[in-house]
Amino acid sequence: MFDLIIRNANLPDGRTGLDVGCRGGRIAALEAGIAADAGQVVDAGGRLLSPPFIDIHFHMDATLSLGRPRRNRSGTLLEGIQLWGELRPMLDREEMVARALRYCDLAVAQGLLAVRSHVDVTDDRLIGVEALLEVRDRVKPYFDLQLVAFPQDGYFRRPGTAANLERALDMGVEVVGGIPHGERTMEDGRRSVTALCELAAGRGLMVDLHCDETDDPMSRHIETLVFETQRLGLGRRVAGSHLTSMHSMDNYYASKLLALIAEAGVHCVPNPVANIVLQGRHDTYPKRRGLMRVPELLALGVTVAFGQDSMLDPWYPLGNADMLDVASMAVHVGHMTSLAAMKDSFDAVTVNAAEVFGLQDYGIAVGNHADFVLLEARDTVEAIRLRAARLAVIRRGRIIAQSAPRTATLALEGRPVAVEPWRYAPADAD
Ligand code: FE2
Repeated sequence: MFDLIIRNANLPDGRTGLDVGCRGGRIAALEAGIAADAGQVVDAGGRLLSPPFIDIHFHMDATLSLGRPRRNRSGTLLEGIQLWGELRPMLDREEMVARALRYCDLAVAQGLLAVRSHVDVTDDRLIGVEALLEVRDRVKPYFDLQLVAFPQDGYFRRPGTAANLERALDMGVEVVGGIPHGERTMEDGRRSVTALCELAAGRGLMVDLHCDETDDPMSRHIETLVFETQRLGLGRRVAGSHLTSMHSMDNYYASKLLALIAEAGVHCVPNPVANIVLQGRHDTYPKRRGLMRVPELLALGVTVAFGQDSMLDPWYPLGNADMLDVASMAVHVGHMTSLAAMKDSFDAVTVNAAEVFGLQDYGIAVGNHADFVLLEARDTVEAIRLRAARLAVIRRGRIIAQSAPRTATLALEGRPVAVEPWRYAPADAD
């Protein structure tokens, strides 16, 4: 007897026609044709059952603030930071909690059940930290929120920020953040990487730096991050976010750098949607794309996970908490259109992100948490193509969100027909 059985599901690894039996919030059986009964049965009908989406890079303190106090007119990263600086003193804890909770509702509806959010520690009041710690507790039954102490205006650039960052860690923020390319000089940037990695090593924490988020090919703080990861023995606890300068680097240097990243086990976190709109803004034509070298990193065995970064905030005026949209952008911007590369893009918003996050018992296997999203698609590539509807979102064996299928009924003369987009793709063949 199970609490829940999901019947006839396809899995992201290509297995088809499986039943998933859930008991006590865990996956208790995974096989074709489970004979036992269950309190509740969901018929997947040959659709894709995935573990939930994970957004490994987001700013929940800024989301849903679009237009306050004005919009980003230039579209640049720097104006976004300036605009956030104007908004920051106007914020209070209650409104930030309300915005973040509203965002989490949308995320749940989208099958997005784990988010690593940076939280700005520049303001001495640390209201962002207080707000998101409260939100982390309130959503805990259905949502994993992990926080990164992020010195938006630089770690050394403003007196007091370094102390604020430590206070945030003392309050319970789990990950050490930074922004070396935002410091006043290259040397300050280098020193900040060293200081932040030492801080993390001393406290036994993970590191996730906004690193080289610029088109300047000489922005090479990732090199220091890799070095410090090895020197301090931080392997597989460190992520370099953005790394957009890598797009513009000299190919010889990149070939050396990528091998060093792989050797150190540093995770890489591109943010394809944010990167394509924020980078290249100082170019005339051609305009660079600003995406790190994702296929080349994957080929070397580096764990690459995609983040959304922003939604309806000073940096990005669109977004819908849709990690399939993020994966789709990577497919396009990164020329990742081979069948294998498209599958890699789905992994980058699920299993790879779980590894970077450090999420335990994630994935569809016996013994793991019974957390799923049932998508209106047959496989991962179709899910990306369609930004497939999240028919059901399941947390610990309980359905917590449902959406209607996207079927259109045509009324054409003489031939009424239902259009179901998820039935259009041919069978897979590479
Ligand atoms: Fe970011």
